Amino acid sequence: MKIKSSFLLLLIGITLQAQQKNATNSKSISPDLIGIFFEDINYAADGGLYAEQVQNRSFEYAPSDKSGWNSLTAWDYIAWGFGYGTVSVETSSPIHPNNPHYAVLNIEDAGREGIGLKNSGFDGMVVKAGEKYNFSVFLRQLSESAVPFAVKLYNRKGKLIGETTLSTQSKDWKKYNATINITQSSDTADLVFLATGKGKVAIDMVSLFPEKTFKNRPNGLRADLAQTVADLQPKFMRFPGGCLVHGDGLGNMYRWKNTIGPVEQRIAQKNIWGYHQTAGLGYFEYFQFCEDMGAKPLPVVAAAVSCQNSGGTWRIGGTGQKGIPQTEMPEYIQEVLDLIEWANGPATSTWGAKRTEAGHPKPFNLEYIGIGNEDKITPEFETRFKQIYDVVKAKHPEITIIGTVGPAPQGEDYELGWKIARELQIPMVDEHYYEKPEWFIANQKRYDSYNRADSKVYLGEYASRGNSLFNAIAEAAYMTSLERNGDIVWLTSYAPLLAKAGHTQWNPDMIYFNNTTLFRTPNYYVQQLFSVNQGDTYFQDIIAPAQSKADSTLAFSCVQDSKTKDVIIKLVNCSKKEHKLKVDLSQFKNLSSKATLALLTGSAENKNSFEEPNKIMPKTTDFKVSPKFGYSTQPMSLTVIRIKSKK
Ligand code: AHR
Repeated sequence: MKIKSSFLLLLIGITLQAQQKNATNSKSISPDLIGIFFEDINYAADGGLYAEQVQNRSFEYAPSDKSGWNSLTAWDYIAWGFGYGTVSVETSSPIHPNNPHYAVLNIEDAGREGIGLKNSGFDGMVVKAGEKYNFSVFLRQLSESAVPFAVKLYNRKGKLIGETTLSTQSKDWKKYNATINITQSSDTADLVFLATGKGKVAIDMVSLFPEKTFKNRPNGLRADLAQTVADLQPKFMRFPGGCLVHGDGLGNMYRWKNTIGPVEQRIAQKNIWGYHQTAGLGYFEYFQFCEDMGAKPLPVVAAAVSCQNSGGTWRIGGTGQKGIPQTEMPEYIQEVLDLIEWANGPATSTWGAKRTEAGHPKPFNLEYIGIGNEDKITPEFETRFKQIYDVVKAKHPEITIIGTVGPAPQGEDYELGWKIARELQIPMVDEHYYEKPEWFIANQKRYDSYNRADSKVYLGEYASRGNSLFNAIAEAAYMTSLERNGDIVWLTSYAPLLAKAGHTQWNPDMIYFNNTTLFRTPNYYVQQLFSVNQGDTYFQDIIAPAQSKADSTLAFSCVQDSKTKDVIIKLVNCSKKEHKLKVDLSQFKNLSSKATLALLTGSAENKNSFEEPNKIMPKTTDFKVSPKFGYSTQPMSLTVIRIKSKK
């Protein structure tokens, strides 16, 4: 009896000790830590993710988009069979006032083959044999008699590889749809829209989409690109920018209402990165993409000030910031409230009804909204931010508002931004920094000392200025510190996400693509390995260097995912030497010995490219663990070991 009770006491003691260890060596961390940031930079949207093949489909290109551009940029007038006529651009009776320009084709003689317009897309159109393409166009017949048209796709050798015909049926604007079957693949096809009879016609919104878009959505996304993004399994997506949001001057600010509804009624505008945005990929499509990926939407609205670098003033010190006039602020604030209603309101609400009209009666479950993007913290900014913040906070306490603290990890805007965040008790602030890999390795303690009572952090933009394996591994080391601080660092996203070869304004980026293919950078794989291996509890003291002399080139983390109960350890070695680590899993009672091990390693300077897209990529193998084991991290490596829980 005596033995039994002392045994019981011992048992209770051990259990309490174990519980105490659990209580002290673990903490809850953000379930949303790894997301993505999509901005229409580097032709990420038009000519990229947005699957429209026709460039300047609505004749809205302008010299203010880019020097030398005009309404007929990307279009050629053709009269192949000795026909003659004229083409002009007019604005007197557009489909919609938001879309003012259209082409007018006056066919005096159609000749043997017809006269019309040719579009070469964004560096050529990509069409695949055996697949269907959806052609559409808006026409208004200006002559008495109907005008017949041929729609033809040619490869660069001039071979016809798909065609259809149509004829005008109305003296009012009318949309015509046709499906084109492609007989031979081409990466550089041209679309020819040819009047084959006499007459006069107004033409607008000439469009060609593959039938096979991501999830087969109409007005959808390029399937391979969207799938590569979705394969990151992001917990959220921030959009549509970046600098794109606050815009190059007040008139260029991204206004979400201009980007919803029928595409022919959306307002296209200059892209701050030096090209044109059609808004075909607009707020509905962004929210839908989030839903299709299982990511929470994180829209960012401007804090009612334009980019401080407007007009290129970054060259002379950032004086370009302008504030929306106070008389217009109530309307602007209402626009932000309307966005929340559009996303979350019932189908019976004014803006919920517009979401329903677009085909989505159910709410989008918006949880986060960003106000501002790395703005210069001026009195103009502060006043307007506070005006928007106070109203949104009062009317929507359920939404997490994210403020902004400048474009750098320190400095005046960072300090002032954080001061405002503390004063207003903003739930979260958005930090941005693009630094050298050495900075990321050296600054892994950055968030250890952040005051847990302050706003949470959204690390909305970061990258280590390169796409070599070393860059990616340095980012991986830093990401273990983001996990360690996942109680305060709530969201993170690498930036920028996408870049089109030959149209890149910003390097490095996570995914590079051209019209036909893409490659993932080592940075992509690091993001993906962390993202698909997220946990919501962080454990300390599970991993330790075997040698006492470890430095910041060695980094590690241990998390557990409450859904699967799997335990995941990440081991990063940024040095040129192998390093031994000790792992002690004995506190986890329900783990199997079965694990998977993903290893990303190689030469520090190695990069992926279109020629060698798979030079650096993770290799996954089965792995056996015991409650305590040693592991040698290879030089320049990230190892992710996922230990399965016993089912
Ligand atoms: O990610 C590219 C740009 O970097 C973003 O538009 C801006 O927020 C930052 O300066």
